[in-house]
Amino acid sequence: MNNDLYAVVGNPISHSKSPRIHSLFASQTGEQLEYTAIQAPEDDFAGTVTDFFQRGGKGLNVTVPFKEQAWKLADRRTERAELAGAANTLYISSEGLLTADNTDGKGLVTDLAANHYVTLAGKRILVLGAGGAVRGVLGPLLAEQPSAVVIANRTVARAEGLVALFEPVAGPTRLEACGFEQPSEPFDLIINGTSASLQGDLPPVSANVIGAGTIVYDMMYSLQTTTFNQWALEQGVTRVFDGLGMLVEQAAESFRIWRGVSPQTRPVIDKLRND
Ligand code: ATR
Repeated sequence: MNNDLYAVVGNPISHSKSPRIHSLFASQTGEQLEYTAIQAPEDDFAGTVTDFFQRGGKGLNVTVPFKEQAWKLADRRTERAELAGAANTLYISSEGLLTADNTDGKGLVTDLAANHYVTLAGKRILVLGAGGAVRGVLGPLLAEQPSAVVIANRTVARAEGLVALFEPVAGPTRLEACGFEQPSEPFDLIINGTSASLQGDLPPVSANVIGAGTIVYDMMYSLQTTTFNQWALEQGVTRVFDGLGMLVEQAAESFRIWRGVSPQTRPVIDKLRND
Protein backbone atom coordinates (compact mmCIF):
# COMPACT_ATOMS: atom_id res chain seq x y z
CA MET A 1 0.00 0.00 0.00
CA ASN A 2 1.21 3.54 -0.78
CA ASN A 3 2.00 5.87 2.11
CA ASP A 4 -0.47 8.67 2.86
CA LEU A 5 0.59 11.80 1.03
CA TYR A 6 1.06 15.27 2.54
CA ALA A 7 2.79 18.41 1.24
CA VAL A 8 3.55 22.04 1.84
CA VAL A 9 2.52 24.45 -0.93
CA GLY A 10 4.15 27.83 -1.46
CA ASN A 11 6.09 29.94 -3.93
CA PRO A 12 9.06 29.82 -3.57
CA ILE A 13 9.16 26.57 -1.59
CA SER A 14 12.67 25.12 -1.82
CA HIS A 15 13.72 26.71 1.49
CA SER A 16 10.82 25.18 3.43
CA LYS A 17 11.71 23.19 6.53
CA SER A 18 8.28 21.53 6.67
CA PRO A 19 9.26 18.33 4.76
CA ARG A 20 12.15 17.79 7.15
CA ILE A 21 10.03 18.50 10.24
CA HIS A 22 7.19 16.20 9.18
CA SER A 23 9.47 13.35 8.17
CA LEU A 24 11.16 13.60 11.58
CA PHE A 25 7.70 13.48 13.21
CA ALA A 26 6.74 10.47 11.05
CA SER A 27 9.82 8.42 11.87
CA GLN A 28 9.56 9.31 15.56
CA THR A 29 5.88 8.24 15.79
CA GLY A 30 6.03 5.35 13.31
CA GLU A 31 3.39 6.97 11.08
CA GLN A 32 3.56 5.81 7.46
CA LEU A 33 3.47 8.95 5.35
CA GLU A 34 5.22 10.87 2.64
CA TYR A 35 5.56 14.67 2.88
CA THR A 36 6.78 16.69 -0.09
CA ALA A 37 7.11 20.35 -1.13
CA ILE A 38 5.04 21.71 -4.01
CA GLN A 39 5.70 25.02 -5.74
CA ALA A 40 2.32 26.27 -6.99
CA PRO A 41 2.26 28.77 -9.86
CA GLU A 42 1.45 32.24 -8.49
CA ASP A 43 -1.76 32.30 -10.54
CA ASP A 44 -2.96 28.76 -9.89
CA PHE A 45 -2.93 27.90 -6.21
CA ALA A 46 -6.50 26.57 -6.46
CA GLY A 47 -5.60 24.22 -9.31
CA THR A 48 -2.64 22.88 -7.36
CA VAL A 49 -4.78 22.17 -4.30
CA THR A 50 -7.55 20.52 -6.33
CA ASP A 51 -5.06 18.36 -8.16
CA PHE A 52 -3.36 17.31 -4.92
CA PHE A 53 -6.55 16.14 -3.24
CA GLN A 54 -7.82 14.50 -6.45
CA ARG A 55 -4.63 12.43 -6.44
CA GLY A 56 -5.64 11.18 -2.98
CA GLY A 57 -3.50 13.61 -0.96
CA LYS A 58 -4.45 13.68 2.74
CA GLY A 59 -3.35 17.10 3.91
CA LEU A 60 -1.56 20.30 2.94
CA ASN A 61 0.37 22.95 4.73
CA VAL A 62 0.20 26.34 3.05
CA THR A 63 2.82 29.04 3.20
CA VAL A 64 3.70 32.39 1.60
CA PRO A 65 2.03 33.77 -0.47
CA PHE A 66 -1.03 31.52 -0.43
CA LYS A 67 -2.36 31.52 3.15
CA GLU A 68 -5.20 33.96 2.43
CA GLN A 69 -6.10 32.11 -0.78
CA ALA A 70 -6.23 28.83 1.14
CA TRP A 71 -8.64 30.45 3.58
CA LYS A 72 -10.87 31.69 0.74
CA LEU A 73 -10.78 28.41 -1.14
CA ALA A 74 -11.98 26.27 1.77
CA ASP A 75 -15.59 25.07 2.07
CA ARG A 76 -15.30 25.15 5.84
CA ARG A 77 -13.02 26.91 8.36
CA THR A 78 -12.26 26.19 11.96
CA GLU A 79 -13.08 28.98 14.38
CA ARG A 80 -9.45 29.96 14.82
CA ALA A 81 -8.90 29.98 11.06
CA GLU A 82 -11.98 32.13 10.59
CA LEU A 83 -10.52 34.81 12.87
CA ALA A 84 -7.01 34.48 11.49
CA GLY A 85 -8.18 35.32 7.96
CA ALA A 86 -5.58 32.91 6.66
CA ALA A 87 -5.00 29.16 6.68
CA ASN A 88 -1.82 27.12 6.93
CA THR A 89 -3.47 23.69 7.10
CA LEU A 90 -5.92 22.07 4.69
CA TYR A 91 -7.58 18.68 4.70
CA ILE A 92 -10.77 16.98 3.55
CA SER A 93 -13.25 16.54 6.41
CA SER A 94 -15.20 13.32 6.98
CA GLU A 95 -18.12 15.01 5.15
CA GLY A 96 -15.86 15.55 2.15
CA LEU A 97 -15.43 19.31 2.69
CA LEU A 98 -12.15 21.13 2.04
CA THR A 99 -11.39 22.36 5.55
CA ALA A 100 -9.03 25.18 6.53
CA ASP A 101 -7.32 25.50 9.88
CA ASN A 102 -4.63 27.83 11.19
CA THR A 103 -2.13 26.36 13.64
CA ASP A 104 0.29 29.32 13.76
CA GLY A 105 -1.13 30.92 16.91
CA LYS A 106 -1.31 27.60 18.72
CA GLY A 107 2.30 27.03 17.64
CA LEU A 108 3.40 30.34 19.14
CA VAL A 109 1.55 29.88 22.43
CA THR A 110 2.79 26.29 22.80
CA ASP A 111 6.37 27.27 22.05
CA LEU A 112 6.22 30.01 24.67
CA ALA A 113 4.57 27.81 27.32
CA ALA A 114 6.07 24.36 26.75
CA ASN A 115 9.55 25.22 25.49
CA HIS A 116 10.28 28.55 27.18
CA TYR A 117 8.02 28.31 30.27
CA VAL A 118 6.40 31.65 29.45
CA THR A 119 2.76 31.86 30.51
CA LEU A 120 0.64 34.70 29.18
CA ALA A 121 -2.23 34.98 31.66
CA GLY A 122 -2.19 38.41 33.30
CA LYS A 123 0.85 39.58 31.30
CA ARG A 124 1.28 42.84 29.39
CA ILE A 125 2.18 42.04 25.80
CA LEU A 126 3.47 44.40 23.11
CA VAL A 127 2.89 43.04 19.61
CA LEU A 128 4.83 44.72 16.81
CA GLY A 129 3.22 44.53 13.37
CA ALA A 130 -0.34 44.24 12.13
CA GLY A 131 -0.05 42.12 8.99
CA GLY A 132 -1.09 38.57 8.24
CA ALA A 133 1.42 37.01 10.63
CA VAL A 134 0.05 38.98 13.59
CA ARG A 135 -3.58 38.45 12.65
CA GLY A 136 -2.83 34.72 12.52
CA VAL A 137 -1.73 34.54 16.15
CA LEU A 138 -3.90 37.10 17.96
CA GLY A 139 -6.82 34.73 18.69
CA PRO A 140 -4.74 32.12 20.53
CA LEU A 141 -2.76 34.88 22.32
CA LEU A 142 -5.96 36.50 23.60
CA ALA A 143 -7.36 33.12 24.63
CA GLU A 144 -4.58 32.98 27.24
CA GLN A 145 -6.09 36.08 28.89
CA PRO A 146 -3.13 38.44 29.13
CA SER A 147 -3.99 41.67 30.97
CA ALA A 148 -3.14 43.84 27.93
CA VAL A 149 -2.18 43.43 24.30
CA VAL A 150 -0.89 46.58 22.62
CA ILE A 151 -0.56 46.28 18.85
CA ALA A 152 1.98 48.77 17.49
CA ASN A 153 2.43 49.16 13.75
CA ARG A 154 4.04 51.48 11.19
CA THR A 155 0.60 51.91 9.63
CA VAL A 156 -1.53 52.59 12.72
CA ALA A 157 -4.81 52.10 10.83
CA ARG A 158 -3.93 48.43 10.28
CA ALA A 159 -3.37 47.98 14.02
CA GLU A 160 -6.70 49.70 14.68
CA GLY A 161 -8.36 47.35 12.21
CA LEU A 162 -7.05 44.34 14.15
CA VAL A 163 -8.26 45.79 17.44
CA ALA A 164 -11.76 46.21 15.96
CA LEU A 165 -11.68 42.66 14.61
CA PHE A 166 -10.45 41.00 17.81
CA GLU A 167 -12.27 43.15 20.39
CA PRO A 168 -15.19 40.68 20.48
CA VAL A 169 -12.86 37.83 21.54
CA ALA A 170 -10.58 39.88 23.81
CA GLY A 171 -12.44 38.92 26.99
CA PRO A 172 -10.78 40.57 30.00
CA THR A 173 -7.73 41.69 27.95
CA ARG A 174 -7.25 45.40 27.24
CA LEU A 175 -6.60 45.60 23.49
CA GLU A 176 -5.03 48.76 22.05
CA ALA A 177 -3.53 50.03 18.80
CA CYS A 178 -0.76 52.60 18.34
CA GLY A 179 2.33 53.59 16.36
CA PHE A 180 5.81 52.27 17.13
CA GLU A 181 6.98 55.38 18.99
CA GLN A 182 4.07 55.55 21.40
CA PRO A 183 4.66 52.74 23.94
CA SER A 184 7.07 53.91 26.62
CA GLU A 185 6.46 51.61 29.57
CA PRO A 186 8.03 48.19 30.13
CA PHE A 187 6.14 45.13 28.88
CA ASP A 188 6.37 41.54 30.16
CA LEU A 189 6.60 40.18 26.64
CA ILE A 190 7.39 41.81 23.28
CA ILE A 191 6.53 39.84 20.15
CA ASN A 192 7.95 41.02 16.85
CA GLY A 193 5.52 40.06 14.10
CA THR A 194 6.77 42.56 11.51
CA SER A 195 8.71 41.46 8.48
CA ALA A 196 11.16 44.36 9.05
CA SER A 197 14.03 41.95 9.81
CA LEU A 198 13.82 40.67 6.23
CA GLN A 199 15.14 44.07 5.10
CA GLY A 200 17.50 44.27 8.07
CA ASP A 201 15.20 46.97 9.50
CA LEU A 202 14.21 47.54 13.08
CA PRO A 203 10.75 48.76 14.14
CA PRO A 204 11.59 52.08 15.87
CA VAL A 205 10.27 51.26 19.34
CA SER A 206 11.62 53.02 22.42
CA ALA A 207 14.06 51.12 24.63
CA ASN A 208 11.70 52.07 27.49
CA VAL A 209 9.46 49.15 26.53
CA ILE A 210 12.14 46.92 27.99
CA GLY A 211 12.22 46.36 31.73
CA ALA A 212 14.14 44.06 34.05
CA GLY A 213 12.11 40.95 33.26
CA THR A 214 11.05 41.61 29.68
CA ILE A 215 11.00 38.61 27.37
CA VAL A 216 11.45 39.12 23.63
CA TYR A 217 10.14 36.81 20.92
CA ASP A 218 10.77 37.32 17.20
CA MET A 219 8.33 35.28 15.12
CA MET A 220 11.00 35.25 12.40
CA TYR A 221 13.67 32.62 12.33
CA SER A 222 17.08 32.70 10.70
CA LEU A 223 20.42 31.03 11.27
CA GLN A 224 21.89 34.24 12.63
CA THR A 225 20.25 36.16 15.48
CA THR A 226 17.47 38.27 13.93
CA THR A 227 17.93 42.05 13.72
CA PHE A 228 15.22 42.56 16.31
CA ASN A 229 16.62 40.03 18.76
CA GLN A 230 20.10 41.54 18.32
CA TRP A 231 18.67 44.91 19.32
CA ALA A 232 16.95 43.33 22.34
CA LEU A 233 20.19 41.69 23.46
CA GLU A 234 21.95 45.04 23.16
CA GLN A 235 19.28 46.51 25.46
CA GLY A 236 20.17 43.89 28.07
CA VAL A 237 17.28 41.46 27.52
CA THR A 238 18.39 37.99 28.60
CA ARG A 239 15.42 35.91 27.49
CA VAL A 240 15.32 36.31 23.72
CA PHE A 241 13.67 33.69 21.49
CA ASP A 242 13.21 33.26 17.75
CA GLY A 243 10.45 31.57 15.75
CA LEU A 244 12.05 28.16 15.22
CA GLY A 245 10.05 26.62 18.06
CA MET A 246 6.85 28.19 16.70
CA LEU A 247 7.60 26.68 13.29
CA VAL A 248 7.97 23.20 14.77
CA GLU A 249 4.97 23.57 17.09
CA GLN A 250 2.64 24.74 14.31
CA ALA A 251 3.78 21.72 12.31
CA ALA A 252 3.09 19.44 15.28
CA GLU A 253 -0.44 20.83 15.55
CA SER A 254 -1.03 20.12 11.83
CA PHE A 255 0.37 16.60 12.32
CA ARG A 256 -2.04 16.06 15.21
CA ILE A 257 -5.00 17.26 13.12
CA TRP A 258 -4.12 14.92 10.25
CA ARG A 259 -2.87 11.85 12.11
CA GLY A 260 -4.40 12.08 15.58
CA VAL A 261 -0.92 11.58 17.02
CA SER A 262 1.19 14.10 19.00
CA PRO A 263 4.86 14.11 18.06
CA GLN A 264 7.55 15.16 20.50
CA THR A 265 8.78 18.55 19.39
CA ARG A 266 11.87 19.12 21.54
CA PRO A 267 14.14 16.65 19.71
CA VAL A 268 13.00 18.09 16.36
CA ILE A 269 13.68 21.69 17.44
CA ASP A 270 17.13 20.63 18.65
CA LYS A 271 17.89 18.81 15.39
CA LEU A 272 16.87 21.78 13.25
CA ARG A 273 18.85 24.19 15.37
CA ASN A 274 21.94 22.11 14.70
CA ASP A 275 21.32 21.51 10.97
P1 ATR B 1 3.11 39.14 7.08
O1 ATR B 1 2.27 38.06 6.48
O2 ATR B 1 4.56 38.81 7.25
O3 ATR B 1 2.52 39.69 8.31
P2 ATR B 1 2.30 41.60 5.83
O4 ATR B 1 0.85 41.29 5.96
O5 ATR B 1 2.80 42.23 4.58
O6 ATR B 1 3.16 40.27 5.96
O7 ATR B 1 2.74 42.46 7.10
C1 ATR B 1 4.04 42.85 7.32
C2 ATR B 1 4.12 43.61 8.63
O8 ATR B 1 5.46 44.06 8.85
C3 ATR B 1 3.26 44.85 8.69
O9 ATR B 1 2.90 45.11 10.02
C4 ATR B 1 4.23 45.91 8.16
O10 ATR B 1 3.90 47.23 8.52
P3 ATR B 1 2.80 48.06 7.65
O11 ATR B 1 1.47 47.49 8.02
O12 ATR B 1 3.00 49.47 8.09
O13 ATR B 1 3.18 47.83 6.21
C5 ATR B 1 5.48 45.49 8.87
N1 ATR B 1 6.71 45.94 8.22
C6 ATR B 1 7.22 45.51 7.05
N2 ATR B 1 8.39 46.13 6.77
C7 ATR B 1 8.63 46.95 7.81
C8 ATR B 1 9.69 47.86 8.13
N3 ATR B 1 10.75 48.02 7.31
N4 ATR B 1 9.62 48.54 9.29
C9 ATR B 1 8.55 48.37 10.12
N5 ATR B 1 7.52 47.55 9.88
C10 ATR B 1 7.56 46.85 8.74
